[in-house]
Amino acid sequence: MEIPVGIENIIYLDNAATVYPKPLEIMDNMIDMYKKYGVNPGRSGFDLCLIGGDLIQSTRDVLTRFFGGSDPDRLGFAYNASDALNILIYGMVGPGDHVVSTVLEHNSVIRPLNHLKRDGIISLDYVPCSADGYVDPDELASYFRKETKLVVVNHASNVTGAIQPVAEIGKRCKDRGIYFVIDAAQTAGIVPIDVQHMGVDALAFTGHKSLLGPTGIGGFYVSEQVTIRQTRAGGTGVKSAYPYHLEDYPFRLEVGTNNVLGIIGLYLACGYIAEKGMSNIYNHEMALFAPLQAALSNIDGVTLHGTTQLEHRLPVLNFTVHGQDPADTGTLLDVDYNIATRTGLHCAPLIHDHMGTSPRGTVRMSVGPINKQSDIDAAIEAVREIAAIARK
Ligand SMILES: Cc1ncc(COP(=O)(O)O)c(C=O)c1O
Repeated sequence: MEIPVGIENIIYLDNAATVYPKPLEIMDNMIDMYKKYGVNPGRSGFDLCLIGGDLIQSTRDVLTRFFGGSDPDRLGFAYNASDALNILIYGMVGPGDHVVSTVLEHNSVIRPLNHLKRDGIISLDYVPCSADGYVDPDELASYFRKETKLVVVNHASNVTGAIQPVAEIGKRCKDRGIYFVIDAAQTAGIVPIDVQHMGVDALAFTGHKSLLGPTGIGGFYVSEQVTIRQTRAGGTGVKSAYPYHLEDYPFRLEVGTNNVLGIIGLYLACGYIAEKGMSNIYNHEMALFAPLQAALSNIDGVTLHGTTQLEHRLPVLNFTVHGQDPADTGTLLDVDYNIATRTGLHCAPLIHDHMGTSPRGTVRMSVGPINKQSDIDAAIEAVREIAAIARK
């Protein structure tokens, strides 16, 4: 494969898609450990296999603590948040159930729910949000009916960056005995999560964003009071003579050989985040984000979309340049300035309908842990120049 020239000097502002680059101490150690322990864990009794199994169990322990859970066996691994959300959603609802979700959702929630609705299994409501992207818990609760079984809410939007008041929503779900699932794809690793305190029955996470692991690993935490129907079956490495998939956790919702490399990555990444301090990482990102937002809001011909407040939000900025297709703005940033952003609908079409930015979407700049002030300065200057040319 040919590596394009200039790639080393990329100014990467697409961290909401995946954090890049990942801290080297995580990536290098992950590969070293995989070289050493990369056998198929839980399948045999030789020492290496037992160490591999222990590593997986330790990662369940660490992530369970990370999310405020109580039983590490209920922390399961999947490919990513989309996979985990499919396992949770399909395993929680049945014929006649009503589901409430929001216009902020990613397609990893919208599409499974829409499929279930299209197939006549569930009825479904998407609750609107305020102009700046926040859901009102009371308004959400006003959609509850006696058949409402499940509420699925995006903890923080990959478009607006708004962090939703999930503890308030959880309280309302608990009062009505409704299952509450959060999509923590954008928040896991950067926003404190406590499933017990927040009344969350299940959460889905992905490993490659703020959890700072590699792609291809994610998962879920499921609290004791929830029953998730099994929708997949296969090998577990134990009780091979049993003709059905095991019902006990952690096997219940996992099939086949785990992503050992990815799980080791998550184990190391959790250690890295604990050492740096999650709030320090968040504060670093927001300290870069605040001047970026302030500067872009003052550029003639640039419109910001979503929230502009600096609290209860992630460092994700959406904007459009007047008279310019967001895709073209993204191309100019890439080709002329070597700045990586994302353009379009960001897999979250309903929020763009809501913000009035459909069908072309927005340009998204998202700050990550490795960004520095010079990246922000370069981005501000680039948008200033692009907007000036667009005004002519
Ligand atoms: C809010 C949200 N949910 C779900 C996902 C899906 O994550 P993954 O692609 O890792 O499955 C994303 C990814 O961008 C996201 O931002």
